Amino acid sequence: MSAIIMDGKAVSALVREEVKERAAILASKGVKPGLAVVLVGDDPASQVYVRQKEKACASVGFASFMRYLPASTDERELLDLIDGLNSDPAVHGILVQLPLPKHIDKDRVAEAIGPEKDVDGFHPINVGRLTLGIETMEPCTPKGIVYLLEHYGIDIEGKRAVVVGRSNIVGKPVSILLLSRNATVTVCHSRTKDLPSVTRQADILVAATGKPKMITSSMVKDGAVVVDVGITRTQSGLIGDVDFDAVKEMASYITPVPGGIGPMTIAMLLLNTLKAAEACASGSMRR
Ligand code: GUN
Repeated sequence: MSAIIMDGKAVSALVREEVKERAAILASKGVKPGLAVVLVGDDPASQVYVRQKEKACASVGFASFMRYLPASTDERELLDLIDGLNSDPAVHGILVQLPLPKHIDKDRVAEAIGPEKDVDGFHPINVGRLTLGIETMEPCTPKGIVYLLEHYGIDIEGKRAVVVGRSNIVGKPVSILLLSRNATVTVCHSRTKDLPSVTRQADILVAATGKPKMITSSMVKDGAVVVDVGITRTQSGLIGDVDFDAVKEMASYITPVPGGIGPMTIAMLLLNTLKAAEACASGSMRR
């Protein structure tokens, strides 16, 4: 039996419609949601991602403030730019595209962004709040994963969830979101022993390693829900972490690459920016 494909493109379009309507309401009160996107250097993949974000902003009536800096930018210059964006009332969300050049400390950059404008959810205060189960700005990809699962009516509570990959952007925070919904969560990584024996226990398997097709059908339990976060650009197109053609024959639900988690991430960025703008408009901004 072939799995149901979880259509991130279609679901993200629904989210965007809602964002657009709420943005129009805000605009009628004189507040136009604004997102600042900062790219340092000329990494081609990052250039594609920031252009997608700019287009997404335009599609829902947000303002976007694009800042392109050369790879030679020093950390102080970037921190000064962020300071300016923090105090700019037209900017409700700030995103600094990763990866950054090696000479810039990404942790210092994450800490420089005002927590209330941190639409990536990377500031230690927001990571702390997420971990403690306090309402906060949730990081976009993990939020998009859970949103998509819930959209398809997939019960998380009591399920055995296995996350492959422990990055700060995806693996760690998605494990926290799944845990907060009462899944039993295991996080695997490059030093995990006998990975297939762990992944085969998963009712919900999240692959976030960036290693193309590393999740093969022999690593997946019959009927599992499989979420593929990986996107690797190759000559023959975008490839996920999951061997889609084989795994879809065993899974109950699966996300495609492209058209799965990627569009959900952008939709969640818009939702987070809207949330920041709404909080600002209602004067409930946390200090
Ligand atoms: N690079 C890859 N994913 C992300 C993300 O979610 N946010 C930022 N800022 N950079 C990224």
